[in-house]
Amino acid sequence: MTPEQAKQLVAEAAIEYIEWDWVIGVGTGSTANLFIDELAKIKGQIDGAVASSEASAERLRNHGIKVMELDQVGGLPIYVDGADESTKHLHLIKGGGAALTREKIVAAASDKFICIADDSKLVNVLGSFPLPIEVIPMAKSYVARQLVKLGGNPILRDNVTTDNGNLIIDVHDMSIENPVQLEAKINQIAGVVTNGLFAQRGADVLLLGGSEGVTKIEA
Ligand code: 5RP
Repeated sequence: MTPEQAKQLVAEAAIEYIEWDWVIGVGTGSTANLFIDELAKIKGQIDGAVASSEASAERLRNHGIKVMELDQVGGLPIYVDGADESTKHLHLIKGGGAALTREKIVAAASDKFICIADDSKLVNVLGSFPLPIEVIPMAKSYVARQLVKLGGNPILRDNVTTDNGNLIIDVHDMSIENPVQLEAKINQIAGVVTNGLFAQRGADVLLLGGSEGVTKIEA
């Protein structure tokens, strides 16, 4: 089974969680895109969607799904998004698509976070995937120096500006043994908008696609 087929399986499985008249929180990336395509098939049953990026908002609109602002809806019953890495404790690294800040906001505002991924994303320890950090542009060198002090190897992502007008630093070579603690520590660095650790608010359900079908891990 290819990773694409595995992603398709979990995109379809996530649809099972959707109830009539809900507004759906929608993530960003290739797996989230497949979920959006599946959501389009039941668009008559939902009230709309809140997107975690301009790219996802555009894909939703192209399917004729109403895109709403988070402020318009208050809380959301569900958020569906992919991940770059996950542990069995449902701690995640996200932000490979540079959408981490809005993803973290929509996840925080949602009752249930369903994470969908192919099973290559399941790891014992987070950190092989470089940890994305969204930074205010003027703070990039300062933040990078602080990240070196934390044991990382920060590299500015080339030619990327986030939907919020900021930059992304990817932190390589970190073995993240305590993601909850590191998430809090990095957030305290002046100039950091968000880091890509989703540990304080991890996923509630992880759906992994693979040759055995869909495996579910629940908090
Ligand atoms: C975007 C993300 C994505 O969820 C993550 O990068 C996974 O992407 P894909 O589904 O393409 O593997 O966090 O910022």
